[in-house]
Amino acid sequence: MTAIKGLEGIVAATSSISSIYDGVLAYRGINIDDLAEHACYEETAYLLWYGKLPTKSELQTLGKKLSDYAPVPEQLLEQLKVYPKDANTMAVLRTAVSALALYDEQADDNSWECNQEKAIKLQAQLPTLIAAFARIREGKEPIAPLANVTLSHNFLYMLSGEEPDPVAVRALDQALVLHADHELNASTFSARVTIATLSDIYSGVTSAIGTLKGPLHGGANEAVMKMLNEIGTLDQAEPYIQRKLTNKEKIMGFGHRVYKNGDPRAKHLQKMSRQLSLLNGDTTLYDISIKVDGLVSSQKGLRPNVDFYSASVYTLLGIPSDLFTPIFAISRLSGWTAHILEQLEDNRIIRPRAEYTGPNNQQYIPIDLR
Ligand code: ACO
Repeated sequence: MTAIKGLEGIVAATSSISSIYDGVLAYRGINIDDLAEHACYEETAYLLWYGKLPTKSELQTLGKKLSDYAPVPEQLLEQLKVYPKDANTMAVLRTAVSALALYDEQADDNSWECNQEKAIKLQAQLPTLIAAFARIREGKEPIAPLANVTLSHNFLYMLSGEEPDPVAVRALDQALVLHADHELNASTFSARVTIATLSDIYSGVTSAIGTLKGPLHGGANEAVMKMLNEIGTLDQAEPYIQRKLTNKEKIMGFGHRVYKNGDPRAKHLQKMSRQLSLLNGDTTLYDISIKVDGLVSSQKGLRPNVDFYSASVYTLLGIPSDLFTPIFAISRLSGWTAHILEQLEDNRIIRPRAEYTGPNNQQYIPIDLR
């Protein structure tokens, strides 16, 4: 038994949800480039869950359910009010999603129909929870979700209380489409491991949120923004990156386990970052990002991943950096739950082995003799 560190190259599941071949990412066989260009997030979530694009009426029905389910239990809003105001937002989300299960009488029903409905419910409630905490920590009251608007629209509205700019809604929506699924990434694997014990969907999503939180995974987008802020001005980009590379520190938002020639999602986010910068009339953040991209690509041969340009995109949308990873979770929720449903369709507990590297044939020494 020889362990493969980080399970690199191990094929640990079959899945018909998303694929990565020759650097091309597709959801249910549809190239992510097409989806980013033409699809809205709700269509994408439908595609991941049901394996096909929705008709107009199917999309309407999903939209109505997402609106109906968006309010969260009042008790949960009260809980959010007693969480520390400076708590890590991913820890808040992880705790709140776990708590949601307490208010769902069907939390432990693992039938397909019930889990599919809970997936939609979770999809609807995540934005409400995140926006509510973002306001509560600023001493403001949470804003109730609107009916008859898209998820992206509702989220931006619940954050600010103002009607969002259609450009901002479209940018966020496109970012959500791009983040929705990614084959057997770490958080999805985590969700599948949890549900494979026949636990419940809330546990699966809670595990996934905890896994996404780490800076080597979803937490990288927040870390990118920290880096861009530390750099501050264009002329500081080069010395900053040189220092990091000399000290053998990782540059957040670069590199990927699967993509060695570039992440196909990054170009869309880069384009979006440029457009939003021009609209804002200040391209500083974009210019620094481009400079860092050029330096890391040329000196280290590493290409930006999905997290790199999403940091400037979200900042240009006026979103605080500690909400970036929760936004990633809003999007990946559809992927996680599609994988949970798929895992349960043909389940077997996921239980790999470990290569033992400790000592053998040791004697037990009584405590007085140690
Ligand atoms: N900055 C500097 N060096 C890097 C980076 C980076 N961002 N990424 C990889 N490297 C180096 C490694 O140090 C290693 O060098 P070595 O062979 O001299 O030790 C080499 O490139 C290979 O990298 P690994 O760490 O083996 O790559 P792995 O597949 O294990 O990790 C990961 C992939 C976690 C994405 C890594 O590239 C990384 O830490 N990137 C920064 C964090 C990040 O952006 N994460 C988001 C990924 S996308 C997502 O999850 C949504």
